[in-house]
Amino acid sequence: MSLSSRAEQAIRPAGAGGQIAESGTARACKVRLSGVGKRYGAVTALHSTDLEVREGEFVTLLGPSGSGKTTMLNLIAGMTAPTSGRVSIDGRDVTDVPANKRELGMVFQHYALMPHMTIFENVAFPLRVRRRSRAEIDAEVAKALRLVRLPDLGARKPRELSGGQQQRIAIARCLVYSPSIILMDEPLGALDKKLREELQLELKRLHRELGITVLYVTHDQEEALTMSDRIVLMNGARIEQMGPPEELYFRPRSLFAATFLGDSNILDGTVKSTGTVVEVETAYGTFRSSEIEPGTAGVGDAVQILIRPENFHTQPASAERNDNRVTGQMVNSIAYGGVTKTFVRLSDDKVLVVQELTKAGRMTVEPGTPATLSWNAGDGRILPPAKPAVSAAG
Ligand SMILES: Nc1ncnc2c1ncn2[C@@H]1O[C@H](COP(=O)(O)OP(=O)(O)OP(=O)(O)O)[C@@H](O)[C@H]1O
Ligand SMILES: [Mg+2]
Repeated sequence: MSLSSRAEQAIRPAGAGGQIAESGTARACKVRLSGVGKRYGAVTALHSTDLEVREGEFVTLLGPSGSGKTTMLNLIAGMTAPTSGRVSIDGRDVTDVPANKRELGMVFQHYALMPHMTIFENVAFPLRVRRRSRAEIDAEVAKALRLVRLPDLGARKPRELSGGQQQRIAIARCLVYSPSIILMDEPLGALDKKLREELQLELKRLHRELGITVLYVTHDQEEALTMSDRIVLMNGARIEQMGPPEELYFRPRSLFAATFLGDSNILDGTVKSTGTVVEVETAYGTFRSSEIEPGTAGVGDAVQILIRPENFHTQPASAERNDNRVTGQMVNSIAYGGVTKTFVRLSDDKVLVVQELTKAGRMTVEPGTPATLSWNAGDGRILPPAKPAVSAAG
């Protein structure tokens, strides 16, 4: 299928009902991992993993260095053979199919353009390998260069392009043969912040316009939160939690997930009473929380309360209305343009971070002045007691 026909297919209503299903469940399964694991001798690079990626989904593998992200991508691409389990693409078992027969697009952190070839030749390369006609190559390369918004650079060599432009060309080279899945391993990792943000928007636009399924690797939580339909959070060679960005951010199921995504304030405590609102006793008082997975904590259990910095209020007026209150002393306050972060020290030297919109005249605080922070029961997420460590053989 050509690029334009895939784009057409993406915007054309699917099926007789004329509706492209919004919810993931109605879309076809594009990639499926069933019990896929990988070991290198004594090292487990990926524990047995199940994962389904739906057609047209933008799924991000997020996690710290060494957590198994690249391994999972390589297993899908066919660059690595699994030690256990099966990989299927479009309902077909491809576990034993070599990488070059899987028709997937790949973009890596370092663009790996061929330096002696022009930009046109670089982008044309996958089509030449596939023995397309000259006319088709001319047309498809021009289209791919237009898609990444660099239509006039075909005659240049890679070294005559900026880093961001080179990475766009690497993306064009991947789009040119219309793979239905693109795998990207930290594709923007080598670029500065501004360029990254620009290319993030570009990638999202391409994803929308072309309806491609994207599997994207990053260890940058902000990038994952802004780009993904779904985040697969990796930790220690297994999936820690997966779900839409807002679910991972607001309803993390572990301390790891809570602290990996976004700034977090964690208060240790013991469950005093359960129900729709849970009461947790801490060193700073007893707090009420309504954000808890049913059945995850009972009376007497050691839990943690997660409060995001933006959910604290520093105004005395709101303390009256809110469910919970804690007092401490101002440490300092830093304005990052439109938002201000304020640090408050509690009785035992624990420091909480508060994030609010910067208000004129409130940008300086006197260190040591008393501060009251308040928050609502619905904004305190209870993290269940840590599960016992899974044995390394798992
Ligand atoms: N060829 C290999 N031989 C031995 N161990 C390997 C091999 N490839 C990966 N590993 C190990 O498997 C684990 C997972 O590696 P992987 O490359 O998947 O991590 P990652 O999440 O992509 O990390 P990063 O963010 O640093 O790229 C690591 O402990 C790594 O050392
Ligand atoms: Mg990696």
